[in-house]
Amino acid sequence: MTIRKVLRAGHPELRRRSRDLDEDRIGSDPFEALLDDMFDTMYEEDGVGLAAPQVQENLRLVIYEIGENPRYEELEADSGPTVLVNPRIVERSEQREEDWEGCLSLPRLRGRVPRHRWVKVRAHDRGGENIERRVEGFEARVIQHEIDHLDGRLFVDRMDSMASLCFLREYRRYHAEPEEERASSGEDDRPSESR
Ligand code: NI
Repeated sequence: MTIRKVLRAGHPELRRRSRDLDEDRIGSDPFEALLDDMFDTMYEEDGVGLAAPQVQENLRLVIYEIGENPRYEELEADSGPTVLVNPRIVERSEQREEDWEGCLSLPRLRGRVPRHRWVKVRAHDRGGENIERRVEGFEARVIQHEIDHLDGRLFVDRMDSMASLCFLREYRRYHAEPEEERASSGEDDRPSESR
């Protein structure tokens, strides 16, 4: 089990565009080891998703898991551990909705970000199979957030206004949904970042 260091905003690697992962590498030992590290790191940080550039790997590779995180227990979605290799959004809703996001690379910050309500994504899975999924709501938000990392973008770049940007403590005190507030009571500031 290897917990990788998660780069924070300001590190130039977070602002680079990541390269496609060579499909021949899917299933190789280094590929499997990187994914294991990414999952270990995401679970350790209580994140919902993680993109390879956040652990200083310039590759178009993202992971997420929705459903196990107590901070998001109000969500019905349960994605299981998900790997997207070279993901591409091929269709998106016209309609966007705004909701709160955080990021392991911007610790203790939250902000409201407009995202497409649903997206259709094409990628390879961990085994190299082609997958195409239409996802909506929170899962669609996570995918858009993670793919943005592959293009060197952070959630603050997508905010319509910085007026909602806040620290986690103030978010909890003044903005969190009642369920989430209850789910997070007793936690300190640290283990509550997402994505
Ligand atoms: Ni992030």
